[in-house]
Amino acid sequence: MTIPVETTPRLTIPKLGLGTWQLRDAEGQAAVESALRLGYRHLDTAARYGNEAEVGAGIAASGIPRGDIFLTSKVWWENLEPESMYRSLEDSLGRLKTPYLDLFLIHWPTPSMDLEGSLKVLKAAQASGLIRAWGVSNFPVALMKQVEALGETPAALQVEYHALLSQAPLLEWCRSRQIVLEAYSPLAQGKLRDHAVLAEIGAKHGASASQVALAWLLRQPGVVPIPKASRAESQQANLDAIPLAARLDAADVAAIDALPKDQRLVNPDFAPAW
Ligand SMILES: NC(=O)c1ccc[n+]([C@@H]2O[C@H](COP(=O)([O-])OP(=O)(O)OC[C@H]3O[C@@H](n4cnc5c(N)ncnc54)[C@H](OP(=O)(O)O)[C@@H]3O)[C@@H](O)[C@H]2O)c1
Repeated sequence: MTIPVETTPRLTIPKLGLGTWQLRDAEGQAAVESALRLGYRHLDTAARYGNEAEVGAGIAASGIPRGDIFLTSKVWWENLEPESMYRSLEDSLGRLKTPYLDLFLIHWPTPSMDLEGSLKVLKAAQASGLIRAWGVSNFPVALMKQVEALGETPAALQVEYHALLSQAPLLEWCRSRQIVLEAYSPLAQGKLRDHAVLAEIGAKHGASASQVALAWLLRQPGVVPIPKASRAESQQANLDAIPLAARLDAADVAAIDALPKDQRLVNPDFAPAW
């Protein structure tokens, strides 16, 4: 299946990506290879996931030209000093065995970070060709405003977003500035699998609750979900959510929109005030 792309002035990114958190070792590499075989061309990893070598090996084994794949990695919040950031990026490139990343993200903000200094590193890395685009992750609106006040616009913001968590203020912020919003944990880490409302909508369309959850995200302009799936069957099911997105009707969408949206699953002690 050919996956559609989202295009902005700063980025052309496949509308669906493969999340790779917890895909490790030989199984992790096999999952990356399987996804690429099925047609995925967008992979999301991070220095912190400890799996960049596996992701890189999966890309190499697939035989797919590097230029056909959209590859994201991230720098951890403990490495946001300029020198550490450079080292982290170079280490990521080395483990991924690639000369460049398509997107490089600050994984989490930290109160003590020198935002302006970090952005300078990202821009310099972009100017030197080590990264094609830069973005941020887990930045609330207040921090996005600070980035803007410094005269900068990220290509993408990656945040938790799924049928049980609203991101309305960030979505509005991103849409009006053509910043892609990458939806992480789009399946609420598997918790949507048995959701009654989603399952009922799915039954109408011959789809699963998880596929309906993904389709709801996929139909939103500027939103790019990155579900993690280790098994080929789930990877394929998630690809099949792309045509499903066009089949959801107004009543389906209204029912999902109406679900309570206050369930944040990823909220570590170093998270910012949302
Ligand atoms: N920037 C950040 O701070 C941040 C934080 C969290 C996540 N992320 C990124 O976002 C990606 C996705 O988020 P996530 O891994 O937290 O959770 P997720 O994608 O919402 O859920 C993954 C879970 O859903 C299951 N699954 C996948 N497809 C399915 C299907 N079609 N039907 C039923 N179950 C299915 C997976 O099964 P299996 O176990 O069989 O694979 C896994 O248990 C991560 O891998 C990572 O790349 C980023």
